[in-house]
Amino acid sequence: MRDQFLLDPTVTFLNHGSFGACPRAVIDAQRRWQDELERNPVEFLGRRSAALLAEARAVLAAELGAQAADLVFIPNATTGVNLVARSLPLEPGDEVLTTSLEYGACDATWQRLCAQHGAVCRRVEIPLPYRRGEVVDRLMAAVTPRTRVLFVSHITSTTALTLPVAELCAAARARGLFTLIDGAHAPGQIPLALDAVGADVYVGNCHKWLCAPKGAAFLHARPEHQDALEATVISWGYAEGTGGHSGFEAYLGSTPFERHLQWQGTRDITPWLAVPAAIDFQRRHGWPAVRARCHALAARALEGLTTRHGLTPIAEDGDWAQMVAIPVPVPPGQAEALRRTLFDEHRIEVPVTTHAGQTFVRLSVQGYNTADDIARLLDAPPLR
Ligand SMILES: Cc1ncc(COP(=O)(O)O)c(C=O)c1O
Repeated sequence: MRDQFLLDPTVTFLNHGSFGACPRAVIDAQRRWQDELERNPVEFLGRRSAALLAEARAVLAAELGAQAADLVFIPNATTGVNLVARSLPLEPGDEVLTTSLEYGACDATWQRLCAQHGAVCRRVEIPLPYRRGEVVDRLMAAVTPRTRVLFVSHITSTTALTLPVAELCAAARARGLFTLIDGAHAPGQIPLALDAVGADVYVGNCHKWLCAPKGAAFLHARPEHQDALEATVISWGYAEGTGGHSGFEAYLGSTPFERHLQWQGTRDITPWLAVPAAIDFQRRHGWPAVRARCHALAARALEGLTTRHGLTPIAEDGDWAQMVAIPVPVPPGQAEALRRTLFDEHRIEVPVTTHAGQTFVRLSVQGYNTADDIARLLDAPPLR
């Protein structure tokens, strides 16, 4: 499958997790959309965009177990987290509950927003080794009468762990909390049914594990919250006289949710229009079997490296999918040096992450990876 992707053949690419990688067929589909757009930008953006985006959303909704009316496209998960965090009416003393495993940029979003509102962002420690069964109790034990929001990743960034988000959302809902799930790594990596997750808002990337072009992500909101979400950029959807059948719906969309969040000024909408091509690519290539093969390869690397160094995996096999954080005997202060050596001297692109004083090779295995790629990692002198 490697030749279906545009990846540099001289690099052992084991970092799908950071920015994804897009198959040729999907990039070609995006380029066809761009060509069509440029034939008449006014026709495409001004008169057809809402309908084209609605079609793409319908395909995505069917793939993700959601209603198309509850989805809008956004450029990336970070934007989605910001949009929601900035929309919530946090009061001084309110608490946002999150975990110690969150992605740095989103963690920074909450820290900053809370500071601006006089609210408190509380990170609950999730100790390693990871015990999935303890997560709900740990977080719910930290809820106080001032807790308003629960924010957690579906799959964590540096540690690659799957959190029990459906159970967390149910428990938080029972306590009256607003739930926001950061699904940056989930779509395409694990089976996902958004309606079953039950979050108030779920943001996810299509440009990582779904293999869509960069800039393709979505925000899914329960109907009762859609009106309260404020776009990060105020644009035409908020202007007077652009609702209903004003003629603006051909590019702004038909619902207030769509009109407010979708049109943010002129931009390239083709990453979103190529999402159906990405879904089609994975369907044509039997993705459930591809995922299972990738997981098995990642498990081989985990077993090989941890056994060699006498280290213990941080989680059970079912707690991660195509991405796994493999502990390595390297002080956190030398993590970046290890990453650099692996790339500069061995042409292996893999991130080296740190968390709670431990260092990990965060391995991603995607459909284009082979047993040879894993063997090269295992044989790399800095990891021997
Ligand atoms: C858990 C998590 N959330 C959010 C993001 C940000 O994704 P994006 O850069 O597409 O906004 C990442 C990126 O790796 C991530 O790992």
